[in-house]
Amino acid sequence: MTAQQTTQLQDLPADLQKEFLPKHVAVIMDGNGRWAKRQGLPRIMGHKRGVDALKDLLRCCKDWGIEALTAYAFSTENWGRPQEEVDFLMTLFQRVLRQELREMVKENVQIKFVGNLQALPGALQAEISRSVEETQNNRGIRFTVATNYGGRQEILQACRAIAEKVQQGLLQPDEIDEGVFERHLYTSGTCDPDLLIRTSGEMRLSNFLLWQMAYSEIYITDTLWPDFNRQEFMRALSAYQCRDRRFGKV
Ligand code: FPP
Repeated sequence: MTAQQTTQLQDLPADLQKEFLPKHVAVIMDGNGRWAKRQGLPRIMGHKRGVDALKDLLRCCKDWGIEALTAYAFSTENWGRPQEEVDFLMTLFQRVLRQELREMVKENVQIKFVGNLQALPGALQAEISRSVEETQNNRGIRFTVATNYGGRQEILQACRAIAEKVQQGLLQPDEIDEGVFERHLYTSGTCDPDLLIRTSGEMRLSNFLLWQMAYSEIYITDTLWPDFNRQEFMRALSAYQCRDRRFGKV
């Protein structure tokens, strides 16, 4: 173990057990708009503060040795928001990626994106490609951003890709098992989330990682996303460590 790793593990709060931490945390960052409204600010300010909360969570996951973090940044349904807000979010994603890339490279973060990326503005697509390329050899935490993502759409595109292979004679129908299916999902190569955190008290999956979260533990907090901090994350992890994960067994 390197000196740096020793320091990081020491940072784990004493009441959390390293061996029972989730390997993969997924997060639905809900409540930005309500947070802004409560402060008397425009909704977009909630998204801006939401970026800070996400950066803190990524750092925390990295420090505490969590292997993967997936954040739901923009769903396929979010295009239905006012155009001004959609435009703001696209520009925000682009700016944050550009500003944070150097730090992510330095911190050994490997960034990935899941979703229908072709439908995103060209400038954002370029920033996404650059950040994925420049961090692809990093072996620290894997940070996945779901952007223009929908779980049903992901499953459908996997079905289409598999059907094409069957049509071309590359695959037999009875060879299609869970492993084959998973390899055709956007998330291929990343373990399923152990823990899903959703802020702002909503109790829905909202089309997020439908296949992958079959056995994820779900933690819901009333805290609005911009207020989700290290203390809140500790509470979520403590709750997770009290769960009895049986995966359908006794
Ligand atoms: C949901 O809150 C939040 C979003 C749709 C956007 C989340 C995006 C970020 C925090 C930025 C992430 C940035 C990068 C680069 C990954 P809401 O607007 O639905 O809140 P409400 O339910 O209170 O209206």
